Amino acid sequence: MQNNKSIVILDEVLDSEEFKALKDYCFEENRFSALEKGDHIYYVANAPRDTIDKINTAIEEAYKVKIQNSISFLRLASSLCDTDLRIHCDNGNVGTDFVPTHGAVFYITHDENNINGTAFWKHCKYGYVCPSDFTDEDIQKNIMCDKENSLKWSLSTIVGGVPNRLLSYPSKYFHSKYPRVMNGTKVKDSRIVMVIFFKI
Ligand SMILES: [Fe+2]
Repeated sequence: MQNNKSIVILDEVLDSEEFKALKDYCFEENRFSALEKGDHIYYVANAPRDTIDKINTAIEEAYKVKIQNSISFLRLASSLCDTDLRIHCDNGNVGTDFVPTHGAVFYITHDENNINGTAFWKHCKYGYVCPSDFTDEDIQKNIMCDKENSLKWSLSTIVGGVPNRLLSYPSKYFHSKYPRVMNGTKVKDSRIVMVIFFKI
């Protein structure tokens, strides 16, 4: 049984037909668009409602608890867009009207030839997780200033971005996509994931 502090990895979350339909949806022309937030440009799209419901159900079954609040969207990274390292935690202001207890990534495409997925990092001062008493302002001031500085972080773990895999983690864990710059220039060979922030 998982507790709320667990990192959870679930494979084969959608059945093969559902997963193919999701990929086809992602590959439709002009599906993704740029979204500027603060100092970062994300490439995002709305996720299909039925996929959101299935992923949320999988999360609830894994943690054996109801989700109180969640937000989900699709995100794309390639060799041309979203090329920052941006090590961060998700327990501050992540564009939701609630503070998530957890973040999750559902992998839709991946690079078969190179290690890729989600990296977890140890900060030279704060360790593996953001201090519990940090406000959003503290996070911006003490953590986000180091987000691109690899000298301040050591790599802890890489969870492989296997298609149809769901990775869920407590939002205080420091993490980033991996590697910093993905291969691929077209949508089909880019990294596409569904991102979920939720509160349990
Ligand atoms: Fe995150």
